[in-house]
Amino acid sequence: MRSRRSCLAVPGSNPRFLEKAQGLPADEVFLDLEDSVAPLAKEGARKNIVAALREGDWSGKTRVVRVNDLGTQWTYRDVIEVVEGAGEFLDCLMLPKVEDPTQVVWLDTLLTQIEKANGLEVGGIGIEAQIENARGLVNVDAIAGSSRRLETLVFGPADFMASINMRTLVVGEQPPGYTEGDAYHYILMRILMAARTHDLQAIDGPYLAIKDLDGYRRVAGRAAALGFDGKWVLHPTQVEAANEVFSPSQEDYDRAELILDAYEYYTTVEKRGAVMLGDEMIDEASRKMALVVAAKGRAASLGRTTAFTPPTA
Ligand code: GLV
Ligand code: MG
Repeated sequence: MRSRRSCLAVPGSNPRFLEKAQGLPADEVFLDLEDSVAPLAKEGARKNIVAALREGDWSGKTRVVRVNDLGTQWTYRDVIEVVEGAGEFLDCLMLPKVEDPTQVVWLDTLLTQIEKANGLEVGGIGIEAQIENARGLVNVDAIAGSSRRLETLVFGPADFMASINMRTLVVGEQPPGYTEGDAYHYILMRILMAARTHDLQAIDGPYLAIKDLDGYRRVAGRAAALGFDGKWVLHPTQVEAANEVFSPSQEDYDRAELILDAYEYYTTVEKRGAVMLGDEMIDEASRKMALVVAAKGRAASLGRTTAFTPPTA
């Protein structure tokens, strides 16, 4: 699986941003043709994006292009121009405002045709589906299972809040007047369950108050704690924060590797099922939890600072 702790939004209409994004340490960049690009700038943005993908240095990053949603007149040309122009330099397309599985199937079929016609590996280009309205959330399980190309489900809070008439104008913050808990909890969990059911990643969307880094960390930390894999970043200052929040702490990573080693030792050498590690009892379920944290730590290139020493007889 590709690492997607930080997913950087880059408007396709802005060549300066397309250039600058290449130097930032984001795990993913998505070059946008949708809501950050004005209607009259869409055609020029397609050309900018094709040129940036072909000529830019995106090494180490997952390269994604967000096309326009299927309610517009732009989607099919977005897909054809971008994939014919730069298909071999592209990892995924992001489809916004997905409402039902047939929309993903449409994109999958079109991609297959373009790949065949252009000598690209069939199935090589993945899909990221944005869930950003009530219909998309109600159909999220079917959407998550609709194509083998799907790699992630992405929550789109701005469009989502508008779609359900939530009384807030600050994306990512709690609606004033609601004091019962986290207004986003159900939506995030719903998306996460669908993603995990189909082995997809779950990505949280944007936080628009780009000057408020503490707010970003708080909201990102909430999604990371639930199990989300990453979050959008709209500004360079948010990149480091996302990479940090979605990586395990050094302490948790060390502990996870220790649990894996200890469990391996006791179950194979001493042939015991449930064992003690310090004050904590660990078993097969603890091993699974440790695997998740260890995998995230390894993906974030953390190194171990402690080693397991088997007890001496
Ligand atoms: C992102 O696309 C959003 O609507 O929040
Ligand atoms: Mg949106």
